[in-house]
Amino acid sequence: MTETGQFLFFTSCLYIIIYSLIISTVVVALPTKPEGYDLRPGAADAPFKIALFADLHFGEAESTEWGPLQDVNSTRVMSSVLDHETPVSKPCFHHFINVHIAIIYLMNGMYIAEFVIYLGDVITANNILIRNASLYWDQAISPTRARGIPWASVFGNHDDAAFEWPIEWFSAPGIPKIHCPVANSSCSGKEDCSFQGTQRLEIMKNEIELNTLSHSRYGPKGLWPSVSNYVLQVLSSEDPKSAVAFLYFLDSGGGSYPEVISGAQAEWFRQKALEINPDSSVPEIIFWHIPSRVYEKVAPKFGIHKPCVGSLNEEQVAPQEAEMGMMKLLAERKSAKCISGVGVRNVSLKYNKRLQSTHHQLAIFVGHNHGLDWCCPHKELWLCFARHTGYGGYGNWDRGARIVEITQKPFSVKSWIRMEDGNVHSEVVLSP
Ligand SMILES: *[C@@H]1O[C@H](CO)[C@@H](O)[C@H](O)[C@H]1NC(C)=O
Ligand SMILES: *[C@@H]1O[C@H](CO)[C@@H](O)[C@H](O)[C@H]1NC(C)=O
Ligand SMILES: *[C@@H]1O[C@H](CO)[C@@H](O)[C@H](O)[C@H]1NC(C)=O
Ligand SMILES: *[C@@H]1O[C@H](CO)[C@@H](O)[C@H](O)[C@H]1NC(C)=O
Repeated sequence: MTETGQFLFFTSCLYIIIYSLIISTVVVALPTKPEGYDLRPGAADAPFKIALFADLHFGEAESTEWGPLQDVNSTRVMSSVLDHETPVSKPCFHHFINVHIAIIYLMNGMYIAEFVIYLGDVITANNILIRNASLYWDQAISPTRARGIPWASVFGNHDDAAFEWPIEWFSAPGIPKIHCPVANSSCSGKEDCSFQGTQRLEIMKNEIELNTLSHSRYGPKGLWPSVSNYVLQVLSSEDPKSAVAFLYFLDSGGGSYPEVISGAQAEWFRQKALEINPDSSVPEIIFWHIPSRVYEKVAPKFGIHKPCVGSLNEEQVAPQEAEMGMMKLLAERKSAKCISGVGVRNVSLKYNKRLQSTHHQLAIFVGHNHGLDWCCPHKELWLCFARHTGYGGYGNWDRGARIVEITQKPFSVKSWIRMEDGNVHSEVVLSP
């Protein structure tokens, strides 16, 4: 570094330190949780980027040597993806970015440029012997939190799965000595280190209560045991009262109950959509973990060919156990909307045609299959896989993350895959 460079670096650090100190005294008076859970992109012409972190599987094989190393690797993948997709990345900035951004966030009502979605199987509870799986969950969200980027999460089938006792632990060497994963944790006595399971609700409670940047929610009580059913709105930069997109999150089950989106969840979605988007004029983007059965129908055979876009098609779709109406509802909702367009407005056929050709539900994004990363159209909806982000879980395909980018003016939604090494591929335009 040149002398001027050093000087600039030093003064900018100093500025940030002083600024953080001043601001942190002010922030005490501010509410700890911002009102509402809206996402406000920075500027109308600036894209709003969402990184999907799928199938991290933290805590897998925790009693082996390689298990914890996988988690170190997964942290590196997330950091790499975020640093490639995020313009600001100064070494000094990182130390203070957390306080700094969290504060800006509270004061300005959350203007953000990036967002992360944890798309399920954040942890492999099947292998976690310690009592509190949130300690692993916390490790998985830390690269995002450290950068001051807000996030939301949905559950996958491994997140609250029951502990699986390895049979070899009952042979001569016995049960291995358990290492608690986090230094300085309260994990001292044997009690804390014996598996009792951490339920979805408890994991979610820990995430929400400990993290201002978390936008996750439990979802309505009536839908339990499925947790993480909620909707976030991406607000217009120019008119903060209007939404440019709705992001729906659903729990596709698995672990402590069957792998399914229930009829009750579909009905919740129907009512919610009717309430907040009655004329379906605002595009909807949907996130859950396990692919619906219809993914099997659209899956490309032998490689990936148009209109599908992607780079990995290395295994069979492993879908939900049953279809309880969610996909039918998505299809019907669209036609219901067209009918109401005719009925209410009673406009010309030409107008009606235009309405019909507008895609309202743009895409569904799922994880679960580590060897698939394609997007295929199905009727007027894109069915997309994310990309295996973690070193945990089966498969050795190179790791990466799917990025979804929303641009407001003119409205467009694009997606691509950012690999651990920074390469980008499989770009696809999802908006009509
Ligand atoms: C961690 O990542 C490196 C580099 O990709 C790889 O060679 C190594 O096998 C990984 N280790 C584990 C335990 O996944
Ligand atoms: C589990 O860990 C979280 C920190 O990640 C902590 O806040 C919570 O109190 C712990 N719960 C129990 C029951 O120890
Ligand atoms: C706790 O954290 C501090 C600071 O990170 C470290 O110096 C110390 O060694 C840690 N204690 C244990 C028991 O790991
Ligand atoms: C809609 O238009 C048709 C003719 O195009 C008319 O017969 C009908 O009464 C109209 N309905 C309403 C609700 O205005």
